[in-house]
Amino acid sequence: MTERLQDKVALITGGGGAMGGAQAALFAAEGAAVCVADVSPDAAKAVADRITANGGKAIPFELDVRSATAWADAVAATERALGHITTLCNNAGANFRVGFDEQTEEQWSTIIEIGLTGSFLGIKAAVPSMRRAGGGVILNMGSLASIRPGGGSPGYAAQKMGMVGLTRSAAASYAKDNIRCVIISPGHVDTPFIRENNPHSPNSWETSIDNPANYERRLNNTPLGRLQTAEDIARAFLFAATDEAAMITGSMITVDGGAGL
Ligand SMILES: NC(=O)c1ccc[n+]([C@@H]2O[C@H](COP(=O)([O-])OP(=O)(O)OC[C@H]3O[C@@H](n4cnc5c(N)ncnc54)[C@H](O)[C@@H]3O)[C@@H](O)[C@H]2O)c1
Repeated sequence: MTERLQDKVALITGGGGAMGGAQAALFAAEGAAVCVADVSPDAAKAVADRITANGGKAIPFELDVRSATAWADAVAATERALGHITTLCNNAGANFRVGFDEQTEEQWSTIIEIGLTGSFLGIKAAVPSMRRAGGGVILNMGSLASIRPGGGSPGYAAQKMGMVGLTRSAAASYAKDNIRCVIISPGHVDTPFIRENNPHSPNSWETSIDNPANYERRLNNTPLGRLQTAEDIARAFLFAATDEAAMITGSMITVDGGAGL
C-alpha cells in the first residue's frame, strides 16, 4: 500500500453516495481515517462498515449539511474518534432537472441549501479543526455546470457556479492557515444522481440515463468516449488531497473526458 494519506483525517459529505463513497474507500485504502457523513445513516454505515471490514479506519455519521448545529456535532465526533480534520470533501448535492419556468422556489432553495450553503457551513465548521491540525485541504464538488451552466436547472447552474466563488474565497481566506481549497468538476458520471429517482435528485424516464437516448447524448458529449466512474473522480480528489498538490489552491480540476471543451 502506498499510504499517500497516512495520518490524514477526512470528513466526507455525501459519503454514503456514489462519489463520496468512492472517495471514502480510496482515502481509507491510502491510510486516512474517514468520517463518512450522509443524511442517510444507513448509507453512511454501509460505506463505513465496508472500509472497516477491509482493515481501514472509518466512522459513519448522520449529517444534514444544511444544519450548522449538525456540522458542529460532526466535527466534534470526528475529532473525538479520529483526530483533527485535515481533509474536507463537500460532495452533498441536489438537483431538480426542470427549466426556469417550471422550477419552484422550494426546488431552487433545496439545491442552493444542500449544495452551496451546506458547503459554506462545512468549511466554517471544519477550518478550526484544520487549524489545530496545522493545515488542511477543502475539496468542493463542481460540475459541468461550474464551467458552462445552461437552462436545464437554474438552481443547479447557480449552485455549481457558486462553488467556484466559494472555492476561491476559501482559498484566499485560509492560505495563511496552510489550508488549500480546490474545486473538482466531473462531467457525466454514471451514478444514481443521474440514473435513479431519489428525493435529492429525482429522475424520470425523460432525464434518467436508464433511457438509452439520454445515455447516448451524454456519451456523444464526451470526447474521450465514455462516461466517468465514481472512481475516476475519487482519484482526482485523492491527488488534490495529497502534498503532490501542495501549490494548487483556488483552482478547478476538470475530470470530464473533455465534455467541458
Ligand atoms: N453524477 C454526475 O453525473 C455528477 C456530475 C457532476 C457533479 N455531480 C455532483 O456530485 C455530487 C454527488 O453526487 P453522486 O453522483 O455521488 O450522487 P449520489 O446521489 O450517489 O450521492 C449523493 C449523496 O448525498 C447525500 N445527501 C443528499 N442530501 C444531503 C444532505 N442534506 N446532507 C448530507 N448528505 C446529503 C445523499 O444521501 C447521497 O448519499 C453532487 O454534488 C452532484 O451535484 C454529479
